[in-house]
Amino acid sequence: MTSSAAPSPAPSSRPALCCPRCKSPLAAGAPDAAGCPKCGTRIQVTDAAVAYDYLALLRAAFPRRYRLYKVLCNNGAVSYVELAAGSLSLPERKDVAEFGAFLGRFVRAGDAVLDIGCGPLPTPGYLQALRAAGARLMGLDVNPTEFQGFRITGCAEFLPLPEASVDVVVFATSLDHVCDLDATMREVRRVLPAGGRCCIWMSDRQPYWKQFFLRDRTLTGVLRRVCIDLPKQVAVNIRDGRRLFYGVLHYFTRGRYWDYENGSTFYCPPGAVDPFHSFFESPAEVSALAAEHGLTLVARETGSNGVFLALQRGAEGVNAGRAR
Ligand SMILES: C[S@@+](CC[C@H](N)C(=O)[O-])C[C@H]1O[C@@H](n2cnc3c(N)ncnc32)[C@H](O)[C@@H]1O
Ligand SMILES: [Zn+2]
Repeated sequence: MTSSAAPSPAPSSRPALCCPRCKSPLAAGAPDAAGCPKCGTRIQVTDAAVAYDYLALLRAAFPRRYRLYKVLCNNGAVSYVELAAGSLSLPERKDVAEFGAFLGRFVRAGDAVLDIGCGPLPTPGYLQALRAAGARLMGLDVNPTEFQGFRITGCAEFLPLPEASVDVVVFATSLDHVCDLDATMREVRRVLPAGGRCCIWMSDRQPYWKQFFLRDRTLTGVLRRVCIDLPKQVAVNIRDGRRLFYGVLHYFTRGRYWDYENGSTFYCPPGAVDPFHSFFESPAEVSALAAEHGLTLVARETGSNGVFLALQRGAEGVNAGRAR
């Protein structure tokens, strides 16, 4: 994967589409503002993009977690402007190049590749080589994107693509942002054919309370944490006007307001693990959930900043890592 190659004009021909809600096929010549013939969901379709009211779908399906999800998404949208270098896959990043190389092992020339949570960039660095190799790229995000390829303004939990219509699904540091992981996995399985792949770049962070208490696992280390560092942190939180106890121990370490070196500050709402995530799943937990949905782990690698997983639908007997 090269980081200097200028992206070639992206093919954006319209793929087959279906209603994100009831999955009825949308006619090939559907007008700009088509309604689903079966359930009436409004869907805007052009040759280069599709958009639908994913927020209404998420709110109806996941009423209890929707509001926290939306607030974290809003935080995310600001962070992609104010903390772009740390939040997005700029091509010069080493970890981005590593994931690009990993992806390359699972994508064949001409494959239909769906990048879920593609972000705002025209070409996230990890897709540059695939674009040059002729992959048909589709980018889906809840936020506006400059993605070069077929653009889907929608969400992972309700994909507007028919069954078995995508060869490779990609999640690059986006799986831990979705509103509902289970619904997302179900959709990934639906759009992949047998042998289709799902490549995930994710972090392997420990919960903050573990980071705090178990950083030094010696007896003196733990005692120091409990007797000195913890009271100190609580005192800082009280001095800063933060409430003493938020229900989860990690708030002892960072509190409600997360300050960044460039002066940017983000609010971590109750129920979130940081200003951008409501959960951290470990790679093992993600693999286990994927297996429940018929997606088998076929490769796992540790990168310089996170873990890469490759899952395959109906992987038995398929030589997964040598697809190119
Ligand atoms: C950390 S960014 C990564 C962006 C891009 N993959 C990159 O590496 O530059 C996570 C992305 O997930 C998107 N996202 C959040 N919730 C989503 C959902 N329910 N479905 C699809 N994407 C979602 C966010 O809008 C954001 O663009
Ligand atoms: Zn419908």
